Amino acid sequence: MSTLVYTADELLRDHPDLAPHDVGGRRMHGGFLPDGSYQPPRALVRVPALAAWAAALTERGGRPLDADSSLLGGVRLPTVPQSRVLLRHGLGESFWNSLTIIGKIEARGRLLAEIPFPPLQPHIVDDISQMAIGHLGNGLLQAHGWDEGGVADPALGAAGGAGAHDQMWFAARDLAFGEGAYPDVDPPENIARPEVGRRWMPEVAAEVEGLLSLLMNLLVIEFRAELGFADTQAILRTPDLFPGRRPQAEEAAEIVGRIRADEEIHVSSLQLYLGECAAVTFRTNDGGTIAGRELIERFWNGLVQWATVDQPAIAAEVQRQLLHARVMRHPDGAEIWREFEAAG
Ligand SMILES: [Fe+2]
Ligand SMILES: [Fe+2]
Repeated sequence: MSTLVYTADELLRDHPDLAPHDVGGRRMHGGFLPDGSYQPPRALVRVPALAAWAAALTERGGRPLDADSSLLGGVRLPTVPQSRVLLRHGLGESFWNSLTIIGKIEARGRLLAEIPFPPLQPHIVDDISQMAIGHLGNGLLQAHGWDEGGVADPALGAAGGAGAHDQMWFAARDLAFGEGAYPDVDPPENIARPEVGRRWMPEVAAEVEGLLSLLMNLLVIEFRAELGFADTQAILRTPDLFPGRRPQAEEAAEIVGRIRADEEIHVSSLQLYLGECAAVTFRTNDGGTIAGRELIERFWNGLVQWATVDQPAIAAEVQRQLLHARVMRHPDGAEIWREFEAAG
């Protein structure tokens, strides 16, 4: 049997012989194997370790939490054809903004590597030392956070300090548009769930609910982010867009593809953590126990309704008003807006 216990140092280890991942003179994380294929950062031990934990979970009769296309529902605005209409009319700011905002949201993901998480073992009856959830604070969430927003401490090594997803999005944006093509922009306020602050798992310690709900929220966000990433690549690869910058736009699409490769590890690892949590027994505040599955399912079902139906509708309406105002400032605004609507 392969080992199921790892040190943080092992889980954070990069492949030793990667060719550097440079974009526009900036060093990015990960690198290239001799065959030219992209290798995500900190994947040398982490990826096989995740596979070994997943196999062990399956052997115990559990399985990683389901995340399938049903999680991808909800209206989206602008669609890829709508984005193309805007870009063809020289209205590039919306797409520029979306790339800047994704990058800044990715940067916030570094928090995963920085905030201390409660060890789960005291709250769980089963021995979790040979599970992924026994390693969350011991390399796994650190790797995840660094993938998103980079390593805060450059003393951790040259590869460690390299550009992460935030920098990769900014680099992709600058390749497609040219640096400084539009002003900087900050992410909009989060659209909070109406139930925010409500306790969904009052039987267990607040810090346990905090961690479980964070992992579930992250899984939904990461899984749905795939939609936006695929759309972004389709827009960048549209032959008549970014005229005069086609090779740069194609390279930008490649960079987004590398981000997607990194994110696959995040999605599968979150499915694994939650599958493990569902398969163990938690200790309750009153000295009893409760099946992890019950805690997970209770929260998950409400979250999915919010994330795939309610939230997208609100977000699309906000976008619609913003885009309408922007389009109408164009001399041919009314005509472009009709074209935009027809493309939807
Ligand atoms: Fe990311
Ligand atoms: Fe991610």
